[in-house]
Amino acid sequence: MRDQFGCLSVKDGCAPQGQCGCCTVWVDGRPRVACVTAARRVAGRSVTTLEGLDADLRGRWVEAFTDAGASQCGFCTPGILMRLAALDAAGAKRDEGAVRTALLAHLCRCTGWQSIVEAASAALGDRPREVRARDPLLASWRAQVEGPAFQSSGPAAAMGEGGFASDTAPAGSLVALRDESGVSVGSDLASARRGLAKVQGRRSGEPLGHPVPLPEGQWALTLQTTWVEPAYLEPDASWCGPGATPASPLANGGAFGGKRTSPVTGEARALADERGAPVLALWTREEVVRRGPKRPPIALALRADGTGVIRVARPEGSADLTPMQAAVAEAAPGLLFEEVVVPGPPVAPELRAAGWAEASAAVAALRALGEGRVGPGVPVEVVGRTGARARVEIGADGRVAVEVSAGEPLDETTLRSYCLGAVHQALGLGWSEGVAVDHDGRVQDLTVRSFGILAARDMPEVRVTLHRSDRPPVNGSDAVFAATAAAAWLADGLAPRWPTRRRGR
Ligand code: FES
Ligand code: FES
Repeated sequence: MRDQFGCLSVKDGCAPQGQCGCCTVWVDGRPRVACVTAARRVAGRSVTTLEGLDADLRGRWVEAFTDAGASQCGFCTPGILMRLAALDAAGAKRDEGAVRTALLAHLCRCTGWQSIVEAASAALGDRPREVRARDPLLASWRAQVEGPAFQSSGPAAAMGEGGFASDTAPAGSLVALRDESGVSVGSDLASARRGLAKVQGRRSGEPLGHPVPLPEGQWALTLQTTWVEPAYLEPDASWCGPGATPASPLANGGAFGGKRTSPVTGEARALADERGAPVLALWTREEVVRRGPKRPPIALALRADGTGVIRVARPEGSADLTPMQAAVAEAAPGLLFEEVVVPGPPVAPELRAAGWAEASAAVAALRALGEGRVGPGVPVEVVGRTGARARVEIGADGRVAVEVSAGEPLDETTLRSYCLGAVHQALGLGWSEGVAVDHDGRVQDLTVRSFGILAARDMPEVRVTLHRSDRPPVNGSDAVFAATAAAAWLADGLAPRWPTRRRGR
């Protein structure tokens, strides 16, 4: 669809795993994942992409997604729109349960699902459309404060037109695909893929590990975490002409810090210089899982007075963790920071509030423990590094109540969307996410489904209250992220290892 017909709404998030849903199209009006559908199977049948959808139907869905803030980077959105618009067109069961079930075929890392479900309810007529006046510049400004990277939030983002590097390479660029076996260069993606060994991503039976040992001693509170994948949906991509500056792999969003120093830009430039022609450099999903930075596993031990130790995994080839040490010191000045060399994939301090969030959650949890308040319904307040305040409570019924004060909201829909996404990612960190790594440090689970990202059906209802202020806008979602992680941990009785609710491990 992309190579031959130029249908760039059809995104490649995991091909040929068939697990992210980003490439969903219609075949004879029914949603199908394109990356695992052989061309011969659609011979004589009708294939529809977002570009070819009935204009009224498409406009209604794009509008609903834009109104609800249901699209952030927008990489997942065209596939999700095709899935949900099929429910609409078929007049099938269209209640919230049906929408959440339909979303099981998809992954969205940014939005936390709720805004997508709200957009679907509006588009399907289940709830009145809430039209909030939105200024696209203010929306982008708020996204940049939260991201932190440029992000447009208008209809183009919902159409998947965020300017991703894999979509903007000049026509006729060579395509270089990188996998464990090396780099294969071809005239298009299909020919580049043919040059690689066939290594299908898989989910192994390897258990999740907690690679950093706890320090000896008597501790009031301990926590060990595992390898966590940032799981940005657009794999690393960049294009470059000979002697030129490579395109950023951060086209419409910050990838949670995961692609900030991606080597893919250098690879695009080197190949373009070598070939004397523009080259689009791409990593397979499996390569992203193997080589992309993980959230550093930690072992944290606290005494009742707030002093203690945080040990952080730093495998060979990882980035310098000094910024993480500084962030931890801000959250918990009494913690001694130690790096531990363990075998494993690289880690990076830029990944969403890495270390700071865990230390903030531990300090908040210790406070609650000291007051004898452990369990559901315990509110947690965290002050962010920027001065934002977040208060999160997870009730006995699982519902999540969030209050956030992050200066002038600029665009409430965008700020709310980021807060919903932060709740989803924090619950995943505490409850379900992890990547299995064997004793030799090799990543074993290479599929996007194996990361343990919470599905739409697993997400509790989240209520977000934004407190307006005339103070300058500051990042609020990181404080929400840390406060949610702490509230979830308290609700689970301060289990000593995250994730606490991983199924089948
Ligand atoms: S790219 Fe086809 S399902 Fe992920
Ligand atoms: S908006 Fe869904 S992955 Fe970014």
